[in-house]
Amino acid sequence: MNKQIILLPGDGVGKEIMESAKLVLNTVASEFGHSFTFHQHAIGGDAIDQAGSPLPEDTIKACQNGDAILLGAVGGKKWDSLPAHMRPEKGLLGIRKTLGLFANLRPVKGFTPLLHASPLKEDVIKGSDILIIRELTGGLYFGKPSERREGGNVVVDTLHYQREEMERIIDKAFQSARLRNNHLTSVDKANVLESSRMWREIVEDKSKDYPDVTVEHLLVDAAAMKLVTKPNSFDVIVTENLFGDILSDEASVLTGSLGMLPSASIRSDGVGLYEPVHGSAPDIAGKGIANPLGMILSAAMMLRHSFGLEEEAAEIEEAVHSSLDQGYHTPDLHIKGGKQVGTKEMTELVVENLTTKSVSNSICSM
Ligand code: NAD
Ligand code: IPM
Ligand code: MN
Repeated sequence: MNKQIILLPGDGVGKEIMESAKLVLNTVASEFGHSFTFHQHAIGGDAIDQAGSPLPEDTIKACQNGDAILLGAVGGKKWDSLPAHMRPEKGLLGIRKTLGLFANLRPVKGFTPLLHASPLKEDVIKGSDILIIRELTGGLYFGKPSERREGGNVVVDTLHYQREEMERIIDKAFQSARLRNNHLTSVDKANVLESSRMWREIVEDKSKDYPDVTVEHLLVDAAAMKLVTKPNSFDVIVTENLFGDILSDEASVLTGSLGMLPSASIRSDGVGLYEPVHGSAPDIAGKGIANPLGMILSAAMMLRHSFGLEEEAAEIEEAVHSSLDQGYHTPDLHIKGGKQVGTKEMTELVVENLTTKSVSNSICSM
C-alpha cells in the first residue's frame, strides 16, 4: 500500500512525539511491505512564527490532498496574548472545520499493566472500555464570532447547532454502539439549554431506527461524576463539542495519564486527522520525557480508519501493550516498581516489540 501522510507536528511536545509516530510507521511499512511518504507542514504557533498565520494556505492544501493527517499538538505561552484569530488553537479548529471532520472518536481503555497507575481505585476502573464520540465542528466553538461590548465588560459567546449537525453525529454514535456493546449514553444539559433539548429529541427519534441499542440520557454534571465513580458502566458516550472536550480529559485518568489517549477526527467518507487528546504540555516540552503512546496509538487509529489496515493497527496496539507489560513507562505514569524511561527509549521499545512480533509471525507462518 502506498500512502501520502501529512504530518503537522505543531508546538511543544507535539514535535517530540511526532518523531515517535514516524519511527513506528516506518517500522510498520518495512515489516508489512507498505510505502508511507511523509509531508511535513506547519500549524499552530510554529506556523505563526514561520508564516504569520496559525493555518497557512499550503498546510490546508496539503491536508486536502493527502491520504490522512497526523497532528502533534498546538499552543504555548509564547502565543497566548495574540488576538483570538491569531492564536495557535485557531489553526487546529480551522483545519477540523475546513475538512469537515465532525466526528471525534476518543477511545478510553484501561491497560492492565497500568491499572494501579490510575488515581482511581483498581476495582473501580477494572473492565472500563469507553468510546467517547465528541461532535467536533459545531456548538460554542463555532458560533457567531465572540464579542466584547461595553468597554470590554460584556462578553458574548454563541452556541450554534443545525439539526443536521446533531443528526449525523448521533447516527455515527448509534452505528458505533452497534459494533460494540449496544449501549449508548447521550450526555447533555437538557434541564438548562435549548440546544440540549433538541439534541435529546433527536437521540429519542433516532433510537427508533436502532431498537437493538439501549439508550441512556445523562446530564453532563452527573456524567462527569459517574465517569469517575462507575466508569465500567459506559460503552459509547455521545455528546456535543465542549462537553466532549471536558469529559475526555476527565476520562483520561482511567488510563493513568492524559498522554495515553489517542483520537481520530473523521467525516463520512473516511478522511481523517489523527492526534493525541493532550496538548503541547509546555511544562515538560524539550525535556525528552513526553509520553509518546497517545501519538503512537493515534497512528494506529489512522491505519485502521483511513487505510483499513486492521492487522497493522492491532500490532502497534499490541506492541504498546507489551512495552507496558515489561514495566516500562514515561514519568507521567506513576507505576510502582516500574522502569522509568524517556520519549525516545519508550518509542524504541515499541519498535522493538513490533519487530519481534513480526519476526515471530513470519516464523510461525513458514
Ligand atoms: P496539556 O494537555 O498540554 O497538559 C496538561 C497536563 O498533562 C500537563 O501537566 C502536561 O505535562 C501533561 N501531559 C500532556 N501530554 C503529555 C504527554 N504526552 N506526556 C506526559 N505528560 C503530558 O494541557 P494544557 O497545559 O492545559 O495546555 C497547554 C497548551 O496546549 C495550551 O496552549 C492549549 O491550548 C494547548 N492544547 C492543545 C491541544 C491540541 O493541540 N490538541 C489539546 C489541549 C491543549
Ligand atoms: C482538544 C483541545 C482543543 C479543543 C483546543 C486546543 C482548541 O483541547 O483537542 O481537546 O478544545 O478542541
Ligand atoms: Mn481538549
